[in-house]
Amino acid sequence: MLTIRNRTGLHGSIAVPGDKSISHRSVMLGAISEGTTRVRGFLKSADCLATIDCFRKLGVDIRELPGDPKIFPGMAADEPMTVIRGAGLRGLRAPDGVLLDAKNSGTTVRLLSGILAGQNFISCLTGDSSLRKRPMGRIIRPLEYMGIMAASEAGNGCVPLRIFGGHPRPIRYESRIASAQVKSCVLLAGLYADGPTFYTEPYLSRNHTELMLSAFGGNLKVRKKTDSDAVTTILYPGTVLTGQNVTVPGDISSAAYFLAAGLIVPGSAVTLKNVGINETRDGMLRVIRAMGGDVSILNIHMEGREPAADITVRYTPELRGTEIGGSLIPALIDEIPAIAVIAACAKGRTVIRDAAELKVKETNRLEAISAALASMGIDVEESDDGMTITGGRLRGAPIDPKGDHRIAMAFSIAGLVSRGPVVITDEGCVDVSYPDFYRDLRSLSGE
Ligand code: S3P
Repeated sequence: MLTIRNRTGLHGSIAVPGDKSISHRSVMLGAISEGTTRVRGFLKSADCLATIDCFRKLGVDIRELPGDPKIFPGMAADEPMTVIRGAGLRGLRAPDGVLLDAKNSGTTVRLLSGILAGQNFISCLTGDSSLRKRPMGRIIRPLEYMGIMAASEAGNGCVPLRIFGGHPRPIRYESRIASAQVKSCVLLAGLYADGPTFYTEPYLSRNHTELMLSAFGGNLKVRKKTDSDAVTTILYPGTVLTGQNVTVPGDISSAAYFLAAGLIVPGSAVTLKNVGINETRDGMLRVIRAMGGDVSILNIHMEGREPAADITVRYTPELRGTEIGGSLIPALIDEIPAIAVIAACAKGRTVIRDAAELKVKETNRLEAISAALASMGIDVEESDDGMTITGGRLRGAPIDPKGDHRIAMAFSIAGLVSRGPVVITDEGCVDVSYPDFYRDLRSLSGE
């Protein structure tokens, strides 16, 4: 249990931890490449450690070594470097009857399933009580279309999921949802097919798999439709993936909480260093601008194929409500809890629509955000695919994030500006994506 009290004047700069999506992918692609992959800035959170654990069970040698400035210029020896000795595309080993435990991580299950589809053995993936309720039909369907049986053991479309690896067929798949996890699952399985895989999504979801696959030697093309926002990604198999040196930029989804804090806590000026600003992830920055927030983006540079920058936000007393929907949603899907807290402090209404995917995250986030805001005295109306938040004065309340890291972090920030304390009942769940979140928050408060 953690009590968060009202603060003013947050100052300082934070190097937020490595991007979660990119960290997962660095281990996965490293594992199925030829040669060695070295990763700087790997996120050592529970979700990404679950990915490492699964690949170790699949026979991949993954170690943490001291930083090496010959590989990453400027890297100090006390900065850890994650080193993956690639097993090659089909070189994973059957995990000896052991279940592969993805814990709380949807990304681990869905992406790994695509890789397991191309192995010559049967494997079984499972996870914690939250993950065991999340929908896997969205990957089971395309995998079956590729000729790969993926069986939900309980028959409820969730993990435990048994994957009967083999030879995926090349397919043309149209997804109704913009999900990078589903897209990545299909593209990774497509690496094992004997013809091109076409994957169409209604809006472009995060494209880290595509960018990293190209860097490792993969052959992909992206086609945008002219009459809609739909995007088709085509993966041509048959190239050799070669291990690379990967630098992981800071996670904009972790920066989101401090972006919110800097904007709403009176007298604040906060800088987030080296944050990934890939255009498929930067929706929150666009929303902050639309709300009139004081944000500057400096020192834009590339970390491999991923753009990154330093972001400074300043307290903005006149934030105004905005509308968020359509193609913007996939570019900020994980930031909606933090955006909702900003909206609660803005003048007027913020309308969020087209975000039904929030119902199937680590918790039902539409429900969790609405309930938490309401308990803090904010007028919020939940809809089928979003919510309308009318800005007001937050009051303190107990918040039970029900194990959802993003709800815990967003409402900790709400506690910085509420009348009366916010008490977070299971603050330890932040370990899933940001183990040092409360340390970094304290560093800003000058405690
Ligand atoms: C992720 C994709 C998103 C996001 C999740 C990470 C990824 O999920 O919410 O936290 O790394 O591919 P969906 O692809 O299901 O939208």
